[in-house]
Amino acid sequence: MKTIRDFDLNNKKVIIRVDFNVPIKDGVITDDTRIKESLKTINYAIDNNAKVILMSHLGRIKEESDKLKNTLKPVSVRLSELLNKQVIFVPTTRGEELENAINNLNNGDVLLMENTRFEDLPDKKESKNNEELGKYWASLGDVYINDAFGTAHRAHASNVGIASNLESGIGFLIEKELDNLLPAINNPSRPFTVILGGAKVSDKIGVIENLVKKADYILIGGGMAFTFLKAKGIEIGKSLLDEESIDFCKNILKENESKIILPIDVVTELKECFITDITKDETGLDIGSKTVKLFKQYLDSSKTIIWNGPVGMFEEDRYSNGTKGICEILKNIEATKIAGGGDTASAVKNFGYEEAFTHISTGGGASLELLEGKVLPGIDIIK
Ligand code: 3PG
Repeated sequence: MKTIRDFDLNNKKVIIRVDFNVPIKDGVITDDTRIKESLKTINYAIDNNAKVILMSHLGRIKEESDKLKNTLKPVSVRLSELLNKQVIFVPTTRGEELENAINNLNNGDVLLMENTRFEDLPDKKESKNNEELGKYWASLGDVYINDAFGTAHRAHASNVGIASNLESGIGFLIEKELDNLLPAINNPSRPFTVILGGAKVSDKIGVIENLVKKADYILIGGGMAFTFLKAKGIEIGKSLLDEESIDFCKNILKENESKIILPIDVVTELKECFITDITKDETGLDIGSKTVKLFKQYLDSSKTIIWNGPVGMFEEDRYSNGTKGICEILKNIEATKIAGGGDTASAVKNFGYEEAFTHISTGGGASLELLEGKVLPGIDIIK
């Protein structure tokens, strides 16, 4: 697969698709990791005398009022600070203003176009990869570099559409994500242990089905653990239950009895107790300390660990010990340690354990789909 290094960028209009879908509260970016992670590719293009045209989506645009809170303007300000250079922000996604701004670029200039999903009104042109839109955006550049790993599981006009119409390669971030994730999933040093958490089993069925064939152990925590416990006939009180997934849990447990490790104790709103002691009025909200110790036994000897989904409601201090406990165990062991994006990444960062990991993915849905063994359309088109 071609990478940005394979192109002569000098004097070229280089479209770089980044994932600047960052959390913004009251106009303030609350986590700029994705912007920082795109700097290597952007700086490389600047240093190689390209005219840099950045494109990204932000949020979901379903009605006119969504545009106001999902403008990329605050991102252009933050990017300017990080690059230490002016970023030309164009508040539109097509037309004369955009084309003139691109034609006026000098080598080394950086332009950020408005949110690609503004094209989703009225008929989802961006999200449904409208052919005309992909061609139009491709016509604005000479080379296309996809570095939006977080968006690679979507077939949008701004990734698959442009790449179908222009010479394309991947940037440094996608390269780094694939270099870390693919060997860990497909050719892991063993023992290979997967930690899965998060709310619903149904969101992780694909991951479990794929990884149960590859991993030595799957440690299950978070809300999803309770559907597994219920499938074993344990009283789970008011804990989260994913009714429709009970049969799936029963079958996968039957076939993989010794591989799937479930919590032995929990923290409820009232106490920490063995899972068999949850009363019908209680809710399990975190794994207990005995489960953390149990998981440690598996993790200590592991050589590859992939973690997707917090093991408790970590946003609340009193239910954060399980997730912190896993971070602490991982900090002290030598192995390839990878955290999937989304909630797992923010938990790891909030608790200050970034250094404990070999790699923290910038992709939530995208890393999940890789774990499911799926092909990512935004990358496949470049292959
Ligand atoms: C993400 O944050 O997972 C990506 O940017 C994709 O966003 P989406 O789920 O709105 O398509």
